[in-house]
Amino acid sequence: MSQTIQFYPKKTVLTHSKAVNLTALPPLALYIHVPWCVKKCPYCDFNSHELKNDVSDIEADYVNALLVDLEHALPLVWGRRLVSIFIGGGTPSVLSVHAIERLLSGVRARLPFVSDIEITMEANPGTLDNAKLKGFRDAGVNRISLGVQSFDDGLLKRIGRIHSGAQARAALDTAYQLFDKVNLDIMFALPEQTLEQLQSDVRTALTYAPTHLSYYHMTIEPNTYFHRYPPKVPDDELALDMQAFIEQALEDSGMRHYEVSAYAKAGHESHHNTNYWQFGDYVGIGAGAHSKISAHDGIIRQARYKHPQRYLDAVAQGDAVETFEQLSAQALPFEFMLNALRLRDGVTVADFYASTGLGLMDLQPALEKAQAQGLMEKQADVLRVTDLGWRFLSDVQTLFLNDSP
Ligand SMILES: C[S@@+](CC[C@H](N)C(=O)[O-])C[C@H]1O[C@@H](n2cnc3c(N)ncnc32)[C@H](O)[C@@H]1O
Ligand code: SF4
Repeated sequence: MSQTIQFYPKKTVLTHSKAVNLTALPPLALYIHVPWCVKKCPYCDFNSHELKNDVSDIEADYVNALLVDLEHALPLVWGRRLVSIFIGGGTPSVLSVHAIERLLSGVRARLPFVSDIEITMEANPGTLDNAKLKGFRDAGVNRISLGVQSFDDGLLKRIGRIHSGAQARAALDTAYQLFDKVNLDIMFALPEQTLEQLQSDVRTALTYAPTHLSYYHMTIEPNTYFHRYPPKVPDDELALDMQAFIEQALEDSGMRHYEVSAYAKAGHESHHNTNYWQFGDYVGIGAGAHSKISAHDGIIRQARYKHPQRYLDAVAQGDAVETFEQLSAQALPFEFMLNALRLRDGVTVADFYASTGLGLMDLQPALEKAQAQGLMEKQADVLRVTDLGWRFLSDVQTLFLNDSP
């Protein structure tokens, strides 16, 4: 039975005239943030902090806080089943097997799961051994996302990783023995990386016959060490050659470039990330985590306090939510398209209606401009970016932003 939930914004940010009206609710996912790493990487602007103490001193309190945080969020999602869980970070694999067991059994006791739920955990090869990976699997994790970044020892050192290429390969060997679903995170355009080094990384990755791979262009982000002390990175032309090689090699191996940075064999796409890109719902718990939750009469976004200690204190005081926003119907075309445009197969007008309550008319002005510029196409019910639009994605997104109020 469906229900109508009333949201009472405590820290209301926005109010708008046109109301949201949904006939059904989208799939619901859970994101759990673990904000610690062994060492902060110089390129990384994620909400991650170097572990100063032994993790055993803090993990029990953090898992308790996550479960209390989840409990506070339950009234927003009563009666709904989780389709996926993503334990991300930071580096969740710094936690012990016992902590992950307690976390997942605590989540299971509070929210029902669909029978084929995808439970992903991010892991850094420098924090793993066979027993630990097996323990995570036995605790319920069924998909591992390994932060490989490169297999080249020199490059790994240059980007401040705590592991070697051999450790990355050993972690992959074990992951493939234990898990049906494994993702590799790799980056390109690394400091002073040559095309030959990139080709060697791609070829090594392909020896594992991966079913899912996320290949990111390393960006220099504000508030990182690399922003303060910029390394020499490949120029745009070389980066484009690298991107072209990656696309060709992965597609030749049977993977599809289904999202800007994601490649998968058919049927192995990440459920959790696809839910984000399709404007599905997610509850985010943990330091700095974001939520997007629909009810029949409204869609909200929330963000938790970012600093781990501030987050723990806020949970203890009864509310970890720092910002709260009720989305207006006028904002939804941009909110929806921002993510949907990332999907190579695009989205249908029916998907847009199901998750926003709006129709094609509400997308029309930006869509027409994008079509006129050859950036998007509409075939029957499907809206997707063209090859040109794919290359200039932020321009396409801007068209939808400019048409929102
Ligand atoms: C939370 S981390 C993954 C797990 C773990 N912390 C690790 O690094 O092994 C998520 C991924 O984001 C990517 N990433 C982080 N910073 C990036 C940047 N500046 N540019 C591109 N990709 C980045 C990396 O590939 C990284 O594996
Ligand atoms: S890339 Fe991963 S290991 Fe490195 S600081 Fe970021 S979250 Fe931590």
